[in-house]
Order: sequence, then C-alpha cells, then structure tokens
Amino acid sequence: MSIPAGKLALPELAEMKRRGEKIVMVTAYDAPGARFAEDAGVDVILVGDTAAMVVLGHEGTTVPVTMEEMLFLTRTVARAARHPIVIGDMPFGSFQVSDEKALENAVRFVKEAGADAVKLEGAGPSLSRVRSIVEAGIPVMGHVGLTPQSATMLGGFKTQGKTAEAARTLVSDALALEGAGAFAVVLEAVPAPVAAEVTRRLTVPTIGIGAGRDCDGQVLVYHDLLGLTEGHLPRFVKRYANLSREIRDALEHYAEEVRAGTFPEDEHTYEMPDEELERFSGRVAKSSR
Ligand code: KIV
Repeated sequence: MSIPAGKLALPELAEMKRRGEKIVMVTAYDAPGARFAEDAGVDVILVGDTAAMVVLGHEGTTVPVTMEEMLFLTRTVARAARHPIVIGDMPFGSFQVSDEKALENAVRFVKEAGADAVKLEGAGPSLSRVRSIVEAGIPVMGHVGLTPQSATMLGGFKTQGKTAEAARTLVSDALALEGAGAFAVVLEAVPAPVAAEVTRRLTVPTIGIGAGRDCDGQVLVYHDLLGLTEGHLPRFVKRYANLSREIRDALEHYAEEVRAGTFPEDEHTYEMPDEELERFSGRVAKSSR
C-alpha cells in the first residue's frame, strides 16, 4: 500500500465523515507499532492510556499511568508516524484539577511529545477543559460512554447508555463536546442504536469501540486486535491475529536451541581469515606458555 506523503490534515476527518468514508484508528505505544499502523494505512493513532494495562503491567485499570510515562510513549510513536494523526491520551489527574492544569498538560503533549492532538475523557467538567485547550489551538478528541478513568464511579467496565434516560444524556454529552470544540468523539461500550443516533446528530466524526458499525470510524487497542493480550477480552474486541501464541512458541524454541547447543549455527557465526587465525592461535599459544 502506498502511503500519501505528509501528515493527514485534521479537517480531512470531517470530510471523510461527510463522504461516508470510514476512519481507521488504532492505539500504538512504540515506534514499531506506529510504523506498522502507518504502513497499513491507518488514519489516526491513539497513544492510549490503555498503555497502563497493555504495556506497563497495571491490572484492570488505566488510572496509574503518569504524564511522564504518556509523554515518553507518545514521543516514540510521533517519531515514527509521519502520515497518521497522532493523539496523546491525557491520563487520569492530568486534566481533572483545573482548566489551567489541563491546558498546561495538553501543551506538553504537543511541545514535548510531538502529538498532533490530545484526547480526554468525559463531558460535564471536561467541557471547559476541552474549550480551553481548543482555544489555545490544540485539537481535542472527546470520549464518552464507558470512560475507564471513572470506571469505579460507573460501577466497573460496563456498557453505558442502556436506559432511555442514560442514552439521552449520552447524546447531549456528545453534542456538548462538539459544541466545546472537539474535532471527534470516541464512543466506548454504547448500544449500537445510541451510537448511531449520536453519529447522525454530530457533524464531527464519532469513533466507536464497542459502539456498533454506524460510527464514522472504529478504534481497537493494538494488543487486543493482534492477540497480544491474554485472558478475558471485552465482547467488542475482534482478534485479527494470535501473536501471543507466536511469541511464546518462538521464545520456547529459542530457549530449547540455546540449551541444546543447536543455536547459533554456522550461518549466525562470524569467520576470520585462516592466516589471521593461525597468527592469533600462535600468539595465544606463546602468551600462555
Ligand atoms: O486508552 C485507550 O486506548 C482508549 C481507547 C480504548 C479509545 O481510550
């Protein structure tokens, strides 16, 4: 696949919605992941705070990941991704305190980590954060439905917007995010008809994860879709590969061969000219006398 030169322009996402072209978004946390995503023609890479769980070893929560960790990961992705839009996910604690703190941290994502935009969770108090960041010239992606940073308040990792009232709130939250200046809104774990209605009502694109096929685009977590995540996965994940099996097999095979002395073979080994070897052996023999 040939990748267009230069960065995908942000307004192109709204144009894609208008043309009915689906937007492809995936998470990535390092340079190889970013390169694979770019080469596959992905439009948007999210350096998600799911990093807490899929790369940093925290179990079942995104809350512990820090600004410094997110900046480090975003920098590695931004260095490798030339065409896709790179979004830095604002971690828990980086935007909740005040509009000023949120703006300060959003600036760090752009200035220190090379992100093109940031994402933050929630509506309500998050709306003024979105407004301040957008007014400073930094594009913001919203995120409603299941917002993992507030999973405890939501009663766990559960589908949101399942009652008529909750669905109405979700629609108005998404509209409010668009009103605050968000250039797109992630809808996570939301019934398909609710996501379809949000998508119809918004002029900016919706990106679904567990929100049905009517969203303007889809996002999945890199490790989930590649089968690197082991154990329970949410219903909305489709595994496109089983890389954890491949990695385990390869590492077991390597360990077996090292122990059996069958690796390295001649093809993995460097030679030296015979006469140099003779001189070397002669010297070694002399010096060990
Ligand atoms: O952090 C993340 O990976 C996300 C996606 C699941 C949307 O927020």
